[in-house]
Amino acid sequence: MIVCSCAHISDRDIHQAIDWMRDADPYTLITPGKIYRALGKTPECGACIRLFVDKMRSNDKLGVPAELRDLRRRARLATVPE
Ligand code: FES
Repeated sequence: MIVCSCAHISDRDIHQAIDWMRDADPYTLITPGKIYRALGKTPECGACIRLFVDKMRSNDKLGVPAELRDLRRRARLATVPE
């Protein structure tokens, strides 16, 4: 299924890019922009962003690694004097 008609990106392309990025770096934060860059494409109109993100979210490898979750809260707790 074509997700982005401007750049001719399919849902399969999105999943392959996510899998590749996660395998290459388990700590990377994956964004739509990174997927476009990984595929060598550029968004034009932006009309596809909701569907694009929905397809990203359906990939099990999209999640933020546990080590990177709650960084702001952990940093705040680390600076609070006891
Ligand atoms: S449809 Fe994706 S940028 Fe236009």
